[in-house]
Amino acid sequence: APKLGSREAKAHDYDRNYTDVVIAATGPNANPRLAQIMPSLLRHLHDFAREVNLTVAEWTAGVELINQAGQISDGKRNETQLVCDVLGLESLVDEITSKILQQQGSTATPSAVLGPFYREDAPVLHNGSSIVASTGVAEWGAAAAEMLTHLSGRVLSTATGQPIPNAIVDAWEAGPNGMYEQQDPGQPDMNLRGRFRTDEQGRYSMLCLRPTAYPIPFDGPAGRLLKLLDRHPYRPAHVHFIVSADGHRPLTTQIFDSEDKYTKDDAVFAVKKELLVTFKEAKAAHVSNGVKWELEYD
Ligand code: BEZ
Ligand code: FE
Repeated sequence: APKLGSREAKAHDYDRNYTDVVIAATGPNANPRLAQIMPSLLRHLHDFAREVNLTVAEWTAGVELINQAGQISDGKRNETQLVCDVLGLESLVDEITSKILQQQGSTATPSAVLGPFYREDAPVLHNGSSIVASTGVAEWGAAAAEMLTHLSGRVLSTATGQPIPNAIVDAWEAGPNGMYEQQDPGQPDMNLRGRFRTDEQGRYSMLCLRPTAYPIPFDGPAGRLLKLLDRHPYRPAHVHFIVSADGHRPLTTQIFDSEDKYTKDDAVFAVKKELLVTFKEAKAAHVSNGVKWELEYD
């Protein structure tokens, strides 16, 4: 047998019985879902440690990374979530949850990860109004003016295919400088966020910016991990949505600019082909309001 701790040693060279002992320590009154899933977690976790011959020093480095991540969660960012995101875990559980719904017959627009920048209580705006603060456009100058977009569409029931009046479309996006308002002292509170109520035809309509690719925060543990893995932090340009209506399951999703160079290389692996959209040059009626792009998305 290879020497334990040597490169040749593999999981089966260690005492597997140890894992069974840890699993068997779970008591009869354990939380039922935990009792169901922990044996699998423990087996994978222990096998991982054995497979890579994890040393105490390496385990300690991992614990420190998790500790640091846990200390950065202040409404401006949630670093533990971010670490999960760069490891592909949030997108994986999103995919698993979607698959379960699809198996139950759901034909809904695919979901995509919430991400750490959602804020509840975005302003409720009238259809057709803008989520872009004019001060923001002034500050960002010509670049932002070139990105003004009319975004509209309908919210439809997956049960009947019929439009849903009074649904709420909650949208948020980063600025052309790649920052969400809560990360950026230069933007007014709640900039680039808005909630829109669909009309009698189930339609929503807003002015927003054609989105910009941006790096997820990389000055903390998630960024350190990316660097150690020789990875970049960029996400393809996207707009986030939570769509909700009484009597319906809410949908958390994102749409992605199909012309963005990161659509095949998202730092958090959230792109789905059904969520790729093509922004079109605005028709004359809108251009007079400075609108350059338009997109209809149901
Ligand atoms: C976002 O798109 O806002 C996001 C998602 C996952 C990690 C970081 C940012
Ligand atoms: Fe985002």
